[in-house]
Amino acid sequence: MTFKPAKWPRKLRSQEWFAGTSKDAIYHRSWMKNQGLPADLFDGRPVIGILNTFSELNPCNAHLNDLAERVKHGVYEAGGLPVIVPVFSVSESGFRPTAMMFRNLAAMAVEETIRGQQMDGVVCLVGCDKTTPSLLMGAASVDLPTIMVSGGPMLNGYYRGERVGSGTHLWKFSEAVKAGEMTAEEFVEAEASMSRSPGSCNTMGTASTMASMVEALGMTLSGNAAIPAVDSRRRVMAHLTGRRIVQMVKDDLKPSDILTREAFQNAIRTNAAIGGSTNAVIHLLAIAGRCGIDLTLNDWDDWGRDVPTIVNLMPSGKYLMEEFFYAGGLPAVIKRLGEAGLLNKDALTVSGGPVWDEVKDARIDNDDVILPAEKALTQSGGIVVVRGNLAPDGAVLKPSAATPALMQHRGRAVVFEDIDDYKARIEDEALDIDETCVMVMKNCGPRGYPGMAEVGNMGLPPKVLRKGITDMVRISDARMSGTAYGTVVLHTSPEAARGGPLAVVRTGDMIELDVANRRLHLDISDEELAARLAAWKPAVEPPSGGYAKLYHDHVQGADKGADMDFLTGCRGNAVARESH
Ligand code: FES
Repeated sequence: MTFKPAKWPRKLRSQEWFAGTSKDAIYHRSWMKNQGLPADLFDGRPVIGILNTFSELNPCNAHLNDLAERVKHGVYEAGGLPVIVPVFSVSESGFRPTAMMFRNLAAMAVEETIRGQQMDGVVCLVGCDKTTPSLLMGAASVDLPTIMVSGGPMLNGYYRGERVGSGTHLWKFSEAVKAGEMTAEEFVEAEASMSRSPGSCNTMGTASTMASMVEALGMTLSGNAAIPAVDSRRRVMAHLTGRRIVQMVKDDLKPSDILTREAFQNAIRTNAAIGGSTNAVIHLLAIAGRCGIDLTLNDWDDWGRDVPTIVNLMPSGKYLMEEFFYAGGLPAVIKRLGEAGLLNKDALTVSGGPVWDEVKDARIDNDDVILPAEKALTQSGGIVVVRGNLAPDGAVLKPSAATPALMQHRGRAVVFEDIDDYKARIEDEALDIDETCVMVMKNCGPRGYPGMAEVGNMGLPPKVLRKGITDMVRISDARMSGTAYGTVVLHTSPEAARGGPLAVVRTGDMIELDVANRRLHLDISDEELAARLAAWKPAVEPPSGGYAKLYHDHVQGADKGADMDFLTGCRGNAVARESH
């Protein structure tokens, strides 16, 4: 795609606030000058909002103030006026009931933060899972020149000489304690080894996946995704982004120029190549919805189907993000896609040029971390979308994290009505369950939990674990942490809380999963299914007020990206009239 830069100089939107000698202009300049800003900074140069998701309750992003200062240096150098603006920071590790419930609230706040204030361009400082999609969703709905900068992953964790991956080893150690293979004291000892530095999860979890997605979409400078949070090159990335965004404003290079259907195809194929998180499905559908791009679940299956997973990182493989960076990082993977004919090479990036120009000289310095295609973790790494009478609107499964032998399976359902029911009964030795059963959990979807908790990878019953079994087929309308693994069918749509067929599965029903044929079938007659659905009633009362009510009443299904129905689309960046 050829981009034609706009003419410069021209009047920018920030001049609607700062230009002239009117009372209003003096009002806006005067207040800004209380920060010690010289008069010539209001002379028509690009004003760059540095949207900062720093929060001490979002530890993955707690180092972002440093990067904000680096962006600022770059903006000043390039002749812009940088302003750091804190925005709502959603922490995966702390927010209740789920971080996902607040992704849309953050996106809404970001959108209005940008549109309502004196900005010409935006740099989004992101990191922890939801901060990346929420800021890009909000920015895409405004469509001012935008670059994303990730905070970067934590350093590798180690416990007793072994690599410890964020999240992945939390599940592993927790199962080991339940199986009697690890003591509770050892688990606590391991805790300190998991999070060694500032930064986001060091596995190919959702944060690393989404950092890779925004790079593959063309919304970051090349190489952004994998640089460790504490590596000096992360600061350089922020600094260079500050320089670049000023030129993007002058050129008027906007998200709508970059976020094309071709860009989403590049991202979906990249997700398959990196063994990325299933959460990317929901977030990319939501981002596409903000851009008016008609992206569907089927695109995920169609585009990712023949892409091998070549990045050997936990949870699918054995290494961590630090090693991914040393091995060449995402540019090396995108280059591989290009060489295999799986890349839209002309797709535009924030650089102003085609993605191929950014990656064609990338090197691979460790081919055990970035594998040759013939040694791929799986030859078909894309997200699988299964459908059937149990998931008419689709459900997803990540093959690279699943057990091949379980991807075709028929088993007796053991049903948990919600996460509390699961927690109450899973450790009961009298629970009638074995490894051939299919674990089913309801009411954990976007509306159900609410906020689609990351509980789809239900831990196995202790009596199964003690046999040395580590995987069973699990089905729910929940999400799964990108750091988790297993033969786990997620995002079943419509969800149980909307009266989808998942709501009426009963313990003892037989369920068939056939990944090769993309099928998920509840083995009861159509008449029986219809009768059960007709008798279904919602399990919980809807919220009576506050954001929870807004969310409940408007959130769409997982197959639509779980955005709110009134937030889809781009509402532009027109400047509202003066209020004084
Ligand atoms: Fe924040 Fe994993 S909990 S990135």
